[in-house]
Amino acid sequence: MKNIPVILLGCGGVGRHLLQHIVSCRSLHAKLGVRLQVVGVSDSKSLLLASDVFTRELDDTFLNEVSRVKLGGSSLKTLSSFVNECQIFANSEATRTVIDTATCLSKSTGLVVVDCSASSETMGVLNQAVDLGCCIVLANKKPLTAAMDDYDKLVAHPRRIRYESTVGAGLPVIASLNRILSSGDPIRCIVACLSGTLGYVMSEVEGGKPFSQVVKDAKSLGYTEPDPRDDLSGMDVARKALILSRLLGRRVNLDSLKIESLYPEEMGPNMMSLEDFLSSGLLLLDNDIQERVQKAALDGKVLRYVCVIEGSRTEVGLREVPKDSPLGRLRGSNNILAIYSRCYNEQPLVIEGAGAGNDTTAAGVLADILDIQDLFA
Ligand SMILES: NC(=O)c1ccc[n+]([C@@H]2O[C@H](COP(=O)([O-])OP(=O)(O)OC[C@H]3O[C@@H](n4cnc5c(N)ncnc54)[C@H](OP(=O)(O)O)[C@@H]3O)[C@@H](O)[C@H]2O)c1
Repeated sequence: MKNIPVILLGCGGVGRHLLQHIVSCRSLHAKLGVRLQVVGVSDSKSLLLASDVFTRELDDTFLNEVSRVKLGGSSLKTLSSFVNECQIFANSEATRTVIDTATCLSKSTGLVVVDCSASSETMGVLNQAVDLGCCIVLANKKPLTAAMDDYDKLVAHPRRIRYESTVGAGLPVIASLNRILSSGDPIRCIVACLSGTLGYVMSEVEGGKPFSQVVKDAKSLGYTEPDPRDDLSGMDVARKALILSRLLGRRVNLDSLKIESLYPEEMGPNMMSLEDFLSSGLLLLDNDIQERVQKAALDGKVLRYVCVIEGSRTEVGLREVPKDSPLGRLRGSNNILAIYSRCYNEQPLVIEGAGAGNDTTAAGVLADILDIQDLFA
């Protein structure tokens, strides 16, 4: 049996589901000759580490308890009664402890550091883990969208990094692009809808509903971040666009992308409270969006929040697309990518499906870990 030690950074919706998937896939993985040994789990406040990472792992009963505690919204430190199972470190000691563990395990069994946090702070740990020869798997986009120098260090050993779930959750986006790139087929253009939230919003306004109403509906359905401006700013799509753009070899930073926000600066979180935005700010945006929807309809087109990567251009924003095109036919919260290359010239390669959700995203992360199993003895 091949043992793969894992440290999980971040145990929110995705991290919790990853632990559940690891536990529920035990017999499947056993048939594949693989065992994932979770030796550490962290949240924003603490790190739980197996009492001896060389000989012990956090067992499945304990991992289920971790999932239960995090589902209840509590901190990992409430598990201090399980001291026989593990050691508990405060956030201030977590980084050093993960690096010490990576130093030890990299010389023996190897280690996968999995980033399911939504933090920029994990960058230091990830870069050191890479330097030590460990593997890294990310659902977190932030380290991959940091400054170019940091990105270069992170991806310096392509065989040891996977980040499929950062774009399109469980959809095989990065893997497909890598296959096309490694076959020498030049990618000319990517046109994509990469936000489930904005996909839902734009397909609903197409039916004539006011933008303000649709955004509020999306919020009450749980499709948006707690502050919907985090989705409407376009920044999340921009991060995904940057990840794809860099994968294609463009040396670009987030601040050099063209990003269209769906609200003006004066309605931003620093200038307007969330309550005011929801009660009055949003209403002021209705007319403009309605006019744009109607203008597009006159030409048989629909509005979509689109990411375009073509030549040196990487931009995200509202675009009119033909109603009868892959992007125009998109409904609800699905993601879609149309990839044009020499081989996919007239008809693009189209990848479409659920582009968010804790279960799907965690499944993508798990598949990434399994994908690097050959690096473990
Ligand atoms: N959910 C999706 O559909 C989806 C899809 C694709 C990609 N992603 C990405 O996957 C990541 C996780 O998403 P999520 O929905 O699970 O987010 P989430 O529910 O907000 O969970 C984030 C977790 O990270 C922890 N955390 C914060 N700072 C940390 C730090 N410095 N070190 C270690 N842990 C830290 C948080 O701790 P506390 O519990 O103490 O707050 C929390 O457990 C995000 O980067 C997101 O963009 C999510």
